[in-house]
Amino acid sequence: ALVDKAGFRHFMAKEIAEQPAVITRTLDAYLDNGRIDLPAPGLDFNTLDRLTLVACGTGHYACYTAKYWFEALARIPVDIDVASEFRYREPPLDPASAALFVSQSGETADTLAALRYCKGKISTIGAVVNVTESSIARDSDLVFPIHAGAEIGVASTKAFTCQLVVLLLLALEAARQRGTLTEEEVTGRLTELRALPGLINHALALEERIGRLARRVAEARDVLFLGRGAMYPLALEGALKMKEISYIHAEAYASGELKHGPIALIDEHVPVVVMAPTDTLFDKTVSNMQEVMARGGRVLLITDAEGASAAGDGVWETLILPEVAPFLAPILHAIPVQLLAYHTAVEKGTDVDQPRNLAKSVTVE
Ligand code: G6P
Repeated sequence: ALVDKAGFRHFMAKEIAEQPAVITRTLDAYLDNGRIDLPAPGLDFNTLDRLTLVACGTGHYACYTAKYWFEALARIPVDIDVASEFRYREPPLDPASAALFVSQSGETADTLAALRYCKGKISTIGAVVNVTESSIARDSDLVFPIHAGAEIGVASTKAFTCQLVVLLLLALEAARQRGTLTEEEVTGRLTELRALPGLINHALALEERIGRLARRVAEARDVLFLGRGAMYPLALEGALKMKEISYIHAEAYASGELKHGPIALIDEHVPVVVMAPTDTLFDKTVSNMQEVMARGGRVLLITDAEGASAAGDGVWETLILPEVAPFLAPILHAIPVQLLAYHTAVEKGTDVDQPRNLAKSVTVE
């Protein structure tokens, strides 16, 4: 076979483990002497009033994370949507806007239709794809390859983190062009980004621990994922991964919405995965966590050393990731979330690489 499992039990395990290497490759492709080097002719972010990001599945959660980055770093308003809604909603589009279509395969039917809807209505159409010889790439003005390499496991892992890296680089380039970050600030962020593959290696070292935890999670009927800010889309991705391969019902909520519904579901049978790096929102998340624990909920906290000690008593389990700049936390935290879904699925004995009813690429509506 062209691509084999390289000694791993599943393609998904191999693809999770490959992330430091493939992200390094993506960074090599987009960075030249510490500066961002976009595929020609690049994108002029100064002329844009807004940005639209459209995708399906995991790609949609990459777009959702990127919305936080583009808005915070480059002060560009961003609209996001799943392609199946976008295409039929017939949204009015600002001619001074650009749209990015994010797709691993480049062949998802709804995403392609959404792209075609935008043709002639906006300034630029960009494709963020893994497969560059694809319909979505061909129909776009600009192509931003994610360089993840072939992804075989149906549940996307390395394509997700590479999509995040490319979208983050675009957000940093937008910030540089628009002057919302100085050249020095951009360079500083890029240096931090360069260190990310090394940090991901540390996160991968948690695998054994996560494998043991997964035995307990595998007994659950429902799992809840919570996150705030840019960690909220990652909570959504965590729940999606869990559903896709373990068949356990999983749901994600923005931590602040907890009391508007999902708290009613909390009891000792529902593991609650809380993604909370130490950032400006940390204290708020801790108080949400305490609300869960007060109702007997079992909290699995994914944080860093500082967060672990600040979280106090009563947490069921804590996974400690290395310290990372807050803007990079969604990429680093993706690793334990993928490993948790993977090992829960292995524990349940599902067909991890080919989960029931799912396809790698949905080319018909
Ligand atoms: C399917 C796959 C997902 C993927 C989604 C979008 O549902 O199982 O892993 O995220 O399609 O695919 P695309 O190729 O457009 O990223």
